[in-house]
Amino acid sequence: MDVFSYKDNILYCEDVNLMELAEKVGTPFYCYSLSYIEKRFMDYKRGFGDSTHLICYAVKANSNLSVLKFLATLGAGADIVSGGELFRCLKAGISPSRIVYSGVGKTKEEIVYALKEGILMFNVESLEELSLISKISRELGKKAPVSFRVNPDVDPKTHPYISTGLKKNKFGLSIQQAMEAYERASYDDFIEIKGIDCHIGSQITEVGPFLDAIGRVKELLKRLKKKGIVPQYFDIGGGLGITYKNENPPTPFEFIQEILKEVKDIEQTIIIEPGRSLVGNSGVLLTKILYFKENSQKAFYIVDAGMNDLGRPSLYDAYHEILPVQRPKDDIRIKVDVVGPICETGDFLARERELPRLYSGDLLAVMNSGAYGFTMSSNYNSRPRVPEVVVKGDRFFIARRRETFEDLVAPEDIPQWMEG
Ligand code: LLP
Repeated sequence: MDVFSYKDNILYCEDVNLMELAEKVGTPFYCYSLSYIEKRFMDYKRGFGDSTHLICYAVKANSNLSVLKFLATLGAGADIVSGGELFRCLKAGISPSRIVYSGVGKTKEEIVYALKEGILMFNVESLEELSLISKISRELGKKAPVSFRVNPDVDPKTHPYISTGLKKNKFGLSIQQAMEAYERASYDDFIEIKGIDCHIGSQITEVGPFLDAIGRVKELLKRLKKKGIVPQYFDIGGGLGITYKNENPPTPFEFIQEILKEVKDIEQTIIIEPGRSLVGNSGVLLTKILYFKENSQKAFYIVDAGMNDLGRPSLYDAYHEILPVQRPKDDIRIKVDVVGPICETGDFLARERELPRLYSGDLLAVMNSGAYGFTMSSNYNSRPRVPEVVVKGDRFFIARRRETFEDLVAPEDIPQWMEG
């Protein structure tokens, strides 16, 4: 399904003309196709067929309330990593009984909040975290549901910053430590063993590393069973990659088919935590060319979106396709750097990119920005964060308004003793 396509040389998101939308909303802004998100979600569901499962959307990828609400209506649960994400999920109507809580550094306050709300389980990442959860659940007189995140030590062959399942990474427990953690938990009256969990990284474009990881966790499950410990859920994490340039990852349907083959001999209910593969290709960042300039070596499109709005190119040297919102009549192409207004050399959206010759005032769509785009944006250089628009068919809705200058300073105060 091509949710972004040209009609009469103008780029559309579904049936919404992005030139007209930019006039209404102003630039820059994010725009997400809900139909695309629905299609991907249903593709995962179709993969599972009749087998019981739970799809816990990884909220960090895109935590806009309308996106969460939309996924909730499709039947999604959530994978969260902070109290803030829990708050968003509850606001969007995601049932706590479908929420798993991951992350290496949960605070006492966050654990209390999640326990009181009655989430499905904590994906515990250290023995100290287990002790804290146990202490809190004792105080609250409420059993805590837990799962342990196992670090299976497999190489997901992705960018080192987003690979998480290697021994040298900070995530999870080694197989041996996990064994110890399960035994300890099984003697604890205030801990309920619910699951087993792993997550090996992100933007993984082959199934092989997932199957390796599952194989290793299955070995552990066998050892646990011998001790009478049988978790109900097996959470295989998220991480399925998407196409940014030439990658050719399996579709969610194909991916789940392969996974199911690997887990057909175990009794646990499968949980997955997809983020990017649900929302990544659903979104664009729309930006306007402010200035064109060139010197003897380089040409630049200076645009009104910067690394604070979309950090992936600067952070990971990530490739995002860039398309003109209005295709020019001629086909003159030039090599340019697309750079933002931030005072940093690392502030670029693309480098040495061949693009049509455009002019100030023209609009660009930075493609495949639906995941880890807005959620990683900041107010650096005191830039208000940009709006987020959701589209379904010919309807659009400003799901988050542009921040104002007042929003920027709202949480701040000046001490009275400076006022003289
Ligand atoms: N579950 C856990 C425990 C995770 O840490 C993550 C992502 C996911 C699920 C979802 O992974 P996904 O399906 O989206 O690959 N900012 C980086 C990506 C960081 C991913 C962090 N963890 C980027 O822009 O590429």
